[in-house]
Amino acid sequence: KTLHDLGDLRGRRVLVRSDLNVPLDGSTITDDGRIRASLPTLQTLLDAGARVLVTAHLGRPKGEPDPAHSLRPVADRLSELLGRPVGFAADTVGREAQRASAELSDGELVVLENVRFNAGETSKDDAVRGAFADELAALADLFVSDGFGVVHRKQASVYDVASRLPAAVGGLVQTEVEVLQRLTSTPERPYVVVLGGSKVSDKLGVIDHLLDKADTLLIGGGMVFTFLAAQGHDVGSSLLETDQVDIARGYLDRAAAQGVELVLPTDIVVAPAFAADAPATVVDAGSIPSDQMGLDIGPDSAARFAQIITSARTVFWNGPMGVFEFPAFADGTRAVADALTRTDGLSVVGGGDSAAAVRALGFTDDQFGHISTGGGASLEYLEGATLPGLSILEDVS
Ligand code: 3PG
Repeated sequence: KTLHDLGDLRGRRVLVRSDLNVPLDGSTITDDGRIRASLPTLQTLLDAGARVLVTAHLGRPKGEPDPAHSLRPVADRLSELLGRPVGFAADTVGREAQRASAELSDGELVVLENVRFNAGETSKDDAVRGAFADELAALADLFVSDGFGVVHRKQASVYDVASRLPAAVGGLVQTEVEVLQRLTSTPERPYVVVLGGSKVSDKLGVIDHLLDKADTLLIGGGMVFTFLAAQGHDVGSSLLETDQVDIARGYLDRAAAQGVELVLPTDIVVAPAFAADAPATVVDAGSIPSDQMGLDIGPDSAARFAQIITSARTVFWNGPMGVFEFPAFADGTRAVADALTRTDGLSVVGGGDSAAAVRALGFTDDQFGHISTGGGASLEYLEGATLPGLSILEDVS
């Protein structure tokens, strides 16, 4: 069901689960992409005269109030972007939230404090989660699931609440699913997937699945070194997951057997320390000195990756190629981002971190086919996993 199926929304109290998990430096939001992505659904509801209660999380607090993870700065930014006052309840389901729910007028919006300040939100115990979901549901008449970045979480505000109120998907989740479906069903070929980030272990499921789907896999970021180790190379003091080396070797063998091109960098930018001012040099990927660590893919590799990406008809990218936060190690990530902007086909940037990276490097959202707000969620979708926040909506509709 979509918003349209919820009928006349005037005067109805609508609980919206958004993903407003933005990066913060103190109380300063360093990338407001997820807040911006939440706006169309909220605006639609407000225009329809709904009384909107937004529930969301920020970071991973431990199930109790934690001022460092308050959503208040997010509510302030939301107010600026919507160009109208936004209320803030200092609790999620307590007296403040109940008062806010009772006092909202048509076309008004309140943000409830971080839903993860409540242990019931993330509890593994169905009954505990359910009891908290009952409290959330009591605040509203309808539920709208619009936090794509959390649909892979079986949590009270994502999953359990959807069976307690008439529920629908918001426009953001709809759009995200439509785009990702194009990648999983019949991607135009060549279909190239670029994976970066630090850990192979985070990407196991998706690599496994993509070896059957994609034509080419480009691997960058910290996980490269586990693959290089699997090829028998010494990786110096680079990040290495020793327990994943055999798995990486298995992927290399499978790619060769299945005719999937799995491309690793052939040169690496190394430095003696993990620091912005560490002296950077470029070495052959097969000869990283023992006292050096790899912090970015090298220029030859970046050029090769870019050439493969610009010739693709479908590209999905998740994870930076290097430590892009340090200018000396940002070129690989910049080259990949730039290539995505130049491809004629569908280009999708997946993940809150990757999205923040491209914006931090000066790219704008409209240069890409789609920037997904979901990191883990988009990867799990591509893996073909069942996403609790989506499956529950199918079950209840
Ligand atoms: C994300 O940042 O990917 C989403 O907001 C989900 O956050 P989580 O990984 O803490 O559940």
